[in-house]
Amino acid sequence: MRALVAVLPGDGIGPEVTAQAVRVLNAVGQRFGHRFECRDGLIGGAAMNAGAAPLPDASEALCREADAVLLGAVGGPQWDDPQAAVRPEQGLLGLRQSLQLFANLRPVAPHPLLHDASPLKPSLLEGVDIMVVRELTGGIYFGDKTREADAASDLCRYTVGEIERVVRLAARLAQQRRGKLTSVDKANVLATSQLWRATTGRIVGEEFPSIELETLLVDAAAMHLLQRPAEFDVIVTENLFGDILTDEASVLAGSMGLLPSASLGEGSRGLYEPIHGSAPDLAGRDVANPYAAILSVAMMLRLSFGLDAEAQAVELAVSDCVSARVGTVDLFGESGVSTTQAGQAVITRLQEKRLDTVA
Ligand code: NAD
Ligand code: IPM
Ligand code: MN
Repeated sequence: MRALVAVLPGDGIGPEVTAQAVRVLNAVGQRFGHRFECRDGLIGGAAMNAGAAPLPDASEALCREADAVLLGAVGGPQWDDPQAAVRPEQGLLGLRQSLQLFANLRPVAPHPLLHDASPLKPSLLEGVDIMVVRELTGGIYFGDKTREADAASDLCRYTVGEIERVVRLAARLAQQRRGKLTSVDKANVLATSQLWRATTGRIVGEEFPSIELETLLVDAAAMHLLQRPAEFDVIVTENLFGDILTDEASVLAGSMGLLPSASLGEGSRGLYEPIHGSAPDLAGRDVANPYAAILSVAMMLRLSFGLDAEAQAVELAVSDCVSARVGTVDLFGESGVSTTQAGQAVITRLQEKRLDTVA
């Protein structure tokens, strides 16, 4: 197949991990006979430093034209002034909204050989395979904001339609997995959560009667995620709760540098990015873990292009690297390799694998 991929490396480690992900995408193209045309665009602080807006018109147009978007990360200390009216993060939020990417899929499936990279007991991590579906274009992120000298406010608003579409998507995923859906809210306090809970109960009851629905309050969910992670299948939750719970869930996987994500709307176009940020503490040193970005490419292959064997090949190559204890310092400490070497190791395995062992 042929596809146009918009590549927005962004800031900090964004360009470093994205470079490896693009190399992997090209290696998949060569191996499987596809042509992925990658075109770069500016976003975030990199765009601001070039005198443009955090989401320049040209980048937005490129993403609209593209079949999929690969993004690194945005933000960093250089743009962190709390008084600033324009921030790099607005570029990413603007893009998610502009492309109507209302569902953010964040899979968490710790590799068995990495159980010692997590501070949790290995026995707790056995069998953990969670798909968090985070609502991505509503809630407190996008409500009206006010800022005065001595007060500020962020409005949290959800419509029934916004809740229905993301819950349907999450329930469909649960149907293809183990049939369990956990909806996380704060319905004991928030009006938006009461609407969320009522809507979720109705949609699942009417349209997905075979799904087992569990509802949890977000504070308790934060605890259950560490105490009984193997009992979760699909988790669906609002924008802010999903943001926080998935950084917490990265502790199950062993590193922030391992969790990919896919942001989807109604069509096949998606935005693929690691869940981590620009990691200013690691930037420019070729030490950041590129696996989250590379695994985001696997999600792109599967979800936007329908290339399941290719996606599996990438996932297997990463998994093989981890099994061989080839990875960056966040995973393997002193024996860790560089970002570039980790990317190369994935490519080497992709090239070596016999195609008939892949699918
Ligand atoms: P962060 O995710 O950048 O870093 C948190 C911790 O995880 C740090 O210790 C970092 O070293 C580690 N880490 C992150 N990615 C890693 C990787 N690939 N390999 C190894 N270790 C990794 O979060 P932060 O420090 O709170 O935020 C830094 C900046 O990134 C902020 O400006 C924030 O707004 C931005 N941010 C952007 C995104 C995004 O673009 N999607 C996501 C989160 C944060
Ligand atoms: C993420 C990030 C973003 C978010 C920021 C950078 C706007 O933390 O993708 O998880 O909060 O959604
Ligand atoms: Mn986040």
